[in-house]
Amino acid sequence: MTARTPAEQTLRMTIERDVLIVTIDRPGEPVNTLSPALVGEFESLFLRIDEDTLIKGVVLISGKQDTFIAGADIEQFPLLRTAGEAEAVSRMGQALLDRLEALRVPVVAAIHGACLGAGLETALACRYRVCTDHPRTTLALPEVQLGLVPGMGGTQRLPRRVGLQAALDMILTGRNIRAKRALQMGLVDEMVHPSILREIAVERALSLAAGRLKPPARRGGGPASLLLEHNSVGRGIVFRKARESVMEKTHGHYPAPLAALVAVQAGYSRGTEAGLEEEARLFGAMAMTDVSRQLVYLFFASNSLKKDPGVDPPAPEPYDVRRLGVLGAGFMGAGIASIAVQQGTSVRLKDTDLSRIGKGLDAIRAVLKERLARRQVTRQQFDDYLSLAGGTTDYSGFEAADLVIEAVFEDLDLKHRVLQEVEPAMRADAVYASNTSTIPIASIAAAAQRPERVLGMHFFSPVHRMPLLEVIVTPETSREAAVTAVAYGKKLGKTVIVVHDGPGFYTTRILSAYMNEAGRLLDEGASIEAIDDALVDFGFPVGPITLLDEVGIDVGGKVGLVLTEAFGARMAPAESMRKVVAAGRTGRKGNSGFYRYDPDGKKGSVDPSVYALIGGTRREIDRDEIVQRCVLAMVNEAAYCLEEGVLRSTRDGDIGAVFGLGFPPFRGGPFRYIDSVGASRIVEELEDLHARFAPRFRPAEVLFRWGRGDRG
Ligand code: NAI
Repeated sequence: MTARTPAEQTLRMTIERDVLIVTIDRPGEPVNTLSPALVGEFESLFLRIDEDTLIKGVVLISGKQDTFIAGADIEQFPLLRTAGEAEAVSRMGQALLDRLEALRVPVVAAIHGACLGAGLETALACRYRVCTDHPRTTLALPEVQLGLVPGMGGTQRLPRRVGLQAALDMILTGRNIRAKRALQMGLVDEMVHPSILREIAVERALSLAAGRLKPPARRGGGPASLLLEHNSVGRGIVFRKARESVMEKTHGHYPAPLAALVAVQAGYSRGTEAGLEEEARLFGAMAMTDVSRQLVYLFFASNSLKKDPGVDPPAPEPYDVRRLGVLGAGFMGAGIASIAVQQGTSVRLKDTDLSRIGKGLDAIRAVLKERLARRQVTRQQFDDYLSLAGGTTDYSGFEAADLVIEAVFEDLDLKHRVLQEVEPAMRADAVYASNTSTIPIASIAAAAQRPERVLGMHFFSPVHRMPLLEVIVTPETSREAAVTAVAYGKKLGKTVIVVHDGPGFYTTRILSAYMNEAGRLLDEGASIEAIDDALVDFGFPVGPITLLDEVGIDVGGKVGLVLTEAFGARMAPAESMRKVVAAGRTGRKGNSGFYRYDPDGKKGSVDPSVYALIGGTRREIDRDEIVQRCVLAMVNEAAYCLEEGVLRSTRDGDIGAVFGLGFPPFRGGPFRYIDSVGASRIVEELEDLHARFAPRFRPAEVLFRWGRGDRG
């Protein structure tokens, strides 16, 4: 390894009261990550501790603002070409932490901010952990979310620290643990205010060194869990239950949680050495899985979107959005307001009467209440946020808005009317966004005095949970308006893709193609359950018919009209769907869907009266055919969106489908799916389907090109 100058080094060392303070601060990076390149620096750290007998203890602390260590450097993963190479990296990390753990002096981890993956594994190898009580302090082992298992001893040290059940919960889900909970479960030993973190850590290192403080005893959960965990029969039950729960959640599509279970179990049955060996072997094996490659790809894709201003460079500066006007205090309007107030934006809701405003404010309160109940916000924040939302039945206050988002009923005339009403009240430089899910933005902007300030901000429901925002620009939309919508969407915590205008934009358009095909299968006699089950098996969180119940059958009906008008027969709604829409069924919200719903809204069995409504007889249609037709309808439509320039990139198409529609993440998105299957095979399958079902399934031109190996 070449020698590094101090400026390039990640570990900075200073001495304070005989304690070696090691500040982790990766040069030129916003967060700290660990990579094999750091091994040399750790070696010199260990050497110094061995040589300098005056050092009584060590404190590991971060030089970054809000991260301790965010994990291993994920950029390194794609460079690992074989399972053996990946296993060796894991072995190296394990050995490093074994040495840290065995140092002659106590090491205290002083944790503020994100302490994730390899970061938490490092903290677990320390003798004592102090964390700050700050909301940004979160601890987790999120490796399974990248299709991996913890590879630096996490599967062995965590269960011994917090008990088997708590550890499995963390390892198998990747869940974030906040400071207070971390203290309760024994994941950290002490929680302090950020201002005294360093001082307390030094103090504890000295006390441990002097024997005044004993290393804290390891925990094992409460008495009930001890009963289960402290004998092999009990542990057998815990492992079996965990495996069942993983299988139920993942339908067997994600191998990593199962692999992590094997590693944890090996540690219990054959000891830590064997456990570590199994962990490294499985880390290697998992790093080579297709699932992991797709999840890592999505991680990079969403990271690159975070840095993308939404327009080609040079991007103008976005305007700061401090005041937001929302037209329509309904389901979506209130949802948008509920996340906006949490960013300190003052929000003015406009609706037609006060009772609707009241309902909207109640809906905002409900979202905030949930956060309060989960202690994600304090009482003070709850009150502050709520006080930022106000309502009106006219446009008073809209002159102060930097951005107005319209979320009135999906009706073009109404959308024109509200735009014409509000525009004179708005500042000339304020941006106007419609939350329409289907209507082309250019049609809406046709009624505007300042169409250059008009764009689409398509949020997904429920707004406070769904991670995607689709920003839609027309040829007239100004670059300032576009970057402002993108920047504000990011501030609201969304992953933002920018698409060019068109009916149904990107997400609604590909979703419709998919759902329509499900409708065609119903026409041909497939049962509702068969269709839903087949696509859940493929990896969607729910099947297309259940999804239609969720979205609203009436909404689906309206979307169908707009898209048929735009694309003709290939997008025309299926006969059965038309009948269900015409019968006035609305889905779950009206308890009149394809399925029955109990009073709490929980889904029951299929409502047999739907079959009477759609007529025909049911017959078995091959599961593979159901999957192939629905998925290829979506994938082909995505390819059309790319070649028509609706999408700026395949990256956006993959992220849009995964984050907005639940396309199976382990498949990476529609475009990665095309790559995995092979474009030429997709073309062949589409051509076969086109022969049977024209005008549907005509392959997009770009697929032919890719099939010939032309990626240009
Ligand atoms: P909603 O029916 O819950 O709310 C619409 C609200 O607009 C109602 O409160 C209504 O009183 C109000 N409104 C009607 N005329 C108005 C006027 N002149 N001035 C001010 N407010 C008026 O509908 P939802 O579901 O919130 O949908 C709103 C928009 O969001 C639609 O364009 C819809 O396509 C879109 N959207 C809906 C999604 C969903 O899942 N519900 C998802 C994404 C977009």
